[in-house]
Amino acid sequence: MVMKIRVYTLVTVCFLLASFNISASSATSWHMEAIETNIADKPSLQRGARLYIGYCLGCHSLQYQRYERTANDLEIPLDVALDSMIFTGQKIGGLIETAMPEESKNWFGGPPPDLTMVARVRGNEWLYNYLKTFYVDESRPFGVNNKVFPNVGMPHALLELQGIPREACEAHSEMDCLELKVDEGSGVYDADQYDQAVYDIVNFLDYVGEPSRLERERLGIYVLLFLVILGVFTYLLNREFWKDIH
Ligand code: HEC
Repeated sequence: MVMKIRVYTLVTVCFLLASFNISASSATSWHMEAIETNIADKPSLQRGARLYIGYCLGCHSLQYQRYERTANDLEIPLDVALDSMIFTGQKIGGLIETAMPEESKNWFGGPPPDLTMVARVRGNEWLYNYLKTFYVDESRPFGVNNKVFPNVGMPHALLELQGIPREACEAHSEMDCLELKVDEGSGVYDADQYDQAVYDIVNFLDYVGEPSRLERERLGIYVLLFLVILGVFTYLLNREFWKDIH
């Protein structure tokens, strides 16, 4: 009886938590676009790393990740990595630190956070939508706002690639407009290329959040193969044993 009551209580608590979660997530009304990352896609990770270094590292470090490991995992030859990835004068064995001078860290209200774990904390989907929903808002210090991170303190770092994104609604009040439109021809990339670039950055950050997963997934395939082969032999052996009994 006591057990039963406990189970009911647990179920009720779960339902309450679930409904709280639903109401909490509906507070941001932006319809999140889904994304399926693939850390086995090395060309995408390489492009993501290049974009990250070009457009994000100026402010955000990856302080638990080393250049050398990144180059090895992404199959970038070390001499190429030295020339094309390291602009901070560091050695190839160094951590991916930002070149941002200490004194400028407060320009944005607070220091730009380290992004090594951001994909695990925020999730890939959030990151993807975050990088796609900056829009012009003259009332903000940098002239831009964001649909999934209202009143964000970060400028639109990829503006040059995307072009100038604006709210596409006639009449709107602050966060209500749920449609964005980029001024035609204002960016280096078209919409598909921009989506791809953002995807590559998120893919790269997903890898950085757990670099050993690449290794683990490769090992996993061998383990499965081993189990299949073992299974076949076990089956044959089993048949051999029973043959004499029948
Ligand atoms: C000019 C400096 C600057 C550049 C360049 C920059 N950021 Fe930021 N970023 C910031 C600041 C400052 C914040 C903190 C914003 C806040 O808390 O309001 C931030 C916040 C973020 C966050 C949210 C972190 C969190 O969990 O709260 C993410 C994700 C992010 N940046 C990703 C990027 C990516 C990806 C790039 C490159 C495409 C980039 N940033 C380029 C300054 C920058």
